[in-house]
Amino acid sequence: MPATKGEDIAAAADLVKTYRQGEAQIRALDGVSVGFARGRFTAIAGPSGSGKSTLMHCLAGLDSATSGQVTLDGTELTGLSDRALTRVRRDKVGFVFQSFNLLPQLTALENIALPVTMSGRRLDHELLDHLVGVLGIGDRLSHRPGELSGGQQQRVALARALVARPAVVFADEPTGNLDSRSGTEVLDFLRRSVRDLGQTVVMVTHDPRAAAYADRVLVLADGRVVDDVDVAAGADVGRALQTVGNARTATDVGTAAGVGTAADAGTAAGTGTVGSAGSLGRTR
Ligand SMILES: Nc1ncnc2c1ncn2[C@@H]1O[C@H](COP(=O)(O)OP(=O)(O)OP(=O)(O)O)[C@@H](O)[C@H]1O
Ligand SMILES: [Mg+2]
Repeated sequence: MPATKGEDIAAAADLVKTYRQGEAQIRALDGVSVGFARGRFTAIAGPSGSGKSTLMHCLAGLDSATSGQVTLDGTELTGLSDRALTRVRRDKVGFVFQSFNLLPQLTALENIALPVTMSGRRLDHELLDHLVGVLGIGDRLSHRPGELSGGQQQRVALARALVARPAVVFADEPTGNLDSRSGTEVLDFLRRSVRDLGQTVVMVTHDPRAAAYADRVLVLADGRVVDDVDVAAGADVGRALQTVGNARTATDVGTAAGVGTAADAGTAAGTGTVGSAGSLGRTR
């Protein structure tokens, strides 16, 4: 399924990532080919363990694949030296980790500014003020992460990812630790950064409401792309939401039953046989 095009700002071609665990081999990514268009907002959904974080880490140059290629803003990442890879990450990528990854000894403001100052660039104070205002963290900037709530840390991580105007913002469950109001604010914020700043955003989410903010919804199961719903190209947003809902329900089923592995649940995700997100409203 060659889904990559010339204008894609990030792309994976036949990406495979395996982990060895004792005798067993886990195929976290099982031949993923996908492209992400510039200035678009893509959601990646799928059951727990389906490879979402692994795919984002490989696309962002945080992890290397076992085989296949990754291209980021015109640079082929495969085969780059560690040093070159570090530079690409620093200059082209804003990453919001599932677990924030703020430096505990630095204040919120120092954390936000770090990627820009490390790359020897000047901090865009106007953009910084804008981000801090929209994210509502103005009064927390002198605090260290240990003195911030999970939601506040997540917002600091978002500001850090966006302030350098990276080629792509990758966000792994950016609303996972937020109450629904803060979550909505963050999603509105990401949506606006796509619309107003032309930012490219790729976001992992389990939440159909979050996916509804995206132009496109990509669904993974068992390390493969099992659905790709391009809302911007006219696909039905309802179908996209249903797809995410199915994937999520499959995850819940797998977990609740205590027997089905995430991989088992993942198989159901693509078939639309488990659960339904039909009751969910459109959020934009
Ligand atoms: N460092 C590692 N060593 C061994 N296996 C790993 C490692 N990292 C991930 N995996 C495995 O690879 C698969 C994909 O993991 P990944 O973290 O990408 O899933 P995910 O879709 O992000 O899940 P979640 O929704 O729970 O965050 C899982 O089976 C996971 O256990
Ligand atoms: Mg993950």
